[in-house]
Amino acid sequence: MPPSALLDVRNLRVSFPARGQMIPIVDGVSFTLNHQDILGLVGESGSGKSVTALALMGLIDAPGVQVTGSVCFRDQELVGMPQKKLRHLRGKEIAMIFQDPMTAFTPVYTIGWQIDEQIRAHERVSRQQARARTVKLLGDMGVPDPERTANRYPHQLSGGLRQRAMIAMALSCNPSLLIADEPTTALDVTVQAQILELIRSLRDTHHSSILLITHDMGVVAETCDNTMVLYSGRVAEYGPTSALFASPSHPYTAGLLASIPPLDGPRPLRLPAIAGAPPLPQNRPAGCAFSPRCPYAHTACTTALPPYIATGPDHFAACVLPQEGTPLPTRIRNELVQESPQP
Ligand SMILES: Nc1ncnc2c1ncn2[C@@H]1O[C@H](COP(=O)(O)OP(=O)(O)OP(=O)(O)O)[C@@H](O)[C@H]1O
Ligand code: SF4
Ligand SMILES: [Mg+2]
Repeated sequence: MPPSALLDVRNLRVSFPARGQMIPIVDGVSFTLNHQDILGLVGESGSGKSVTALALMGLIDAPGVQVTGSVCFRDQELVGMPQKKLRHLRGKEIAMIFQDPMTAFTPVYTIGWQIDEQIRAHERVSRQQARARTVKLLGDMGVPDPERTANRYPHQLSGGLRQRAMIAMALSCNPSLLIADEPTTALDVTVQAQILELIRSLRDTHHSSILLITHDMGVVAETCDNTMVLYSGRVAEYGPTSALFASPSHPYTAGLLASIPPLDGPRPLRLPAIAGAPPLPQNRPAGCAFSPRCPYAHTACTTALPPYIATGPDHFAACVLPQEGTPLPTRIRNELVQESPQP
């Protein structure tokens, strides 16, 4: 594990049983998350972002599901760790915020009580001390009148306040790793911006590392140090956000980036979209899963999985897009030569 890494994931594979077979939903994912870094995890719906996050948290324990590979967090292996030990880590060292705060809160207790209990589950503090912490955290998260709000039930709060309360709960034990799965999708644009600002500031105030899952490439560009693009359960590309946005290597990354509206200048009437849809995991084609939608696909793509190619410092991709004026990568060039009609 590199010294700067808080989390080092190697060849993570999560397979679900279906019709007598094991279907790999997450298929050989590897990445590193450094201390106090924000890593953006992007990809279309169904690409395996949430399953990856749940597997990291040890939250996939459905009957018959297989999780293999390695998730090394602070030199501890999480894959295969007993649930009791994992429960201790969750909440204290690793916390998760979900798209829907109702997933985190029970409707029958006040939010203050639930945050107090989360603190008391991990630390020996009195009820009064826990409540003082809860009120401070809610205040830090921008919840108005935190003392009174702590005594409210989840359904009595607006969506934005519930989200802030959930972040307060996630941070109640100062986790070193925060996993945020689409934390702003259900919120209106103004509240979204406030919550993202809050998440960005956690790195400085709580020294947390953050795995931020989102569909929104604009959010990634503004928020994340590094970006990982997932396609059909596999990493298409991983790299520093600035390098990946300036010069995407994988045709899928390039397609995702082309579909973002430009920041300045006139907005085009239509933005290019990647034609087609990702395959279902059980129908994933052989070789590169992106091949049915890729404008550069050729025969070799459909026979073998492309090996990862390093394209810069800490930047790798499963395929390298031909740059204008530069020769095609050897693998593709050789293949095209073989495919071209013989005189
Ligand atoms: N418990 C499960 N059993 C079987 N298949 C599952 C299960 N959970 C998820 N899947 C499948 O795994 C794939 C990845 O799902 P996942 O929820 O991780 O996608 P996602 O990238 O988070 O998508 P979204 O952006 O819509 O949240 C999907 O095809 C989904 O149908
Ligand atoms: S391996 Fe082939 S199909 Fe896949 S992204 Fe590269 S060129 Fe396209
Ligand atoms: Mg999801």
